Amino acid sequence: MARCELSCKIGPSVLNADLSELHKESVRLLDSGADYLHLDVMDGHFVPNITFGHPVIKCLRPKIPDAFLETHMMVSKPEQWIEPMADAGVNQYTFHVEPCENIPQVCRKVREAGMKVGLGLKPGTGVSAVEKYIDLADMILIMTVEPGFGGQKFMTNMMEKVQWLRQNYPNLDIEVDGGVGPSTIHACAEAGANMIVSGTAVIGAPDPCKVIATLRDAVVNSIQKSQLER
Ligand code: DX5
Ligand code: ZN
Repeated sequence: MARCELSCKIGPSVLNADLSELHKESVRLLDSGADYLHLDVMDGHFVPNITFGHPVIKCLRPKIPDAFLETHMMVSKPEQWIEPMADAGVNQYTFHVEPCENIPQVCRKVREAGMKVGLGLKPGTGVSAVEKYIDLADMILIMTVEPGFGGQKFMTNMMEKVQWLRQNYPNLDIEVDGGVGPSTIHACAEAGANMIVSGTAVIGAPDPCKVIATLRDAVVNSIQKSQLER
């Protein structure tokens, strides 16, 4: 039996946190059991919203030196921010395939800059758009809301994409992002997602530790179940 390399990772999104307290909020999430932080970078062009960019992340990095930082690049020119994000200390650069003119080249540049590669798909984009690039990526992100804002309703029909990827790539890191919380995690876990982004469900909870533990339990149980079935 092939050994399954999959592991569960929970990456809270700070988008709906008190961004004037970014450092404090990041520490709170890490102390609550987050495996990584999902930092939503928006340029007001690819999505109708603006958040923060590499200067902010560069200030945050030395205060949380050991944290794994993923930037979710909701930007029209993903190639433009590779170097600044690497310089800011980002560990994984997840960009959307939709605006990208040369996906293999951007993947290569991200890797050369010392970061892991994530490829993101908006809800309207099919998995066929990334299929031939999967070998160039460390992770595929399936958006479960239209990117741009936290607190939106989870799109259950996106689970078909997750299922397809998991069936065809048993060891691939698959991330879901948007509307994920205790009430929607089971659909994600059963479909095969193993990297879980959760924003408002964690940030707004009285006990973020408990929410993160609930998300983790669901994913770990599904991974164990699928291993037994193999
Ligand atoms: C949406 C962002 C998400 C968002 C998740 O464009 O990519 O990361 O912050 O927040 P919730 O979990 O509230 O949907
Ligand atoms: Zn995101």
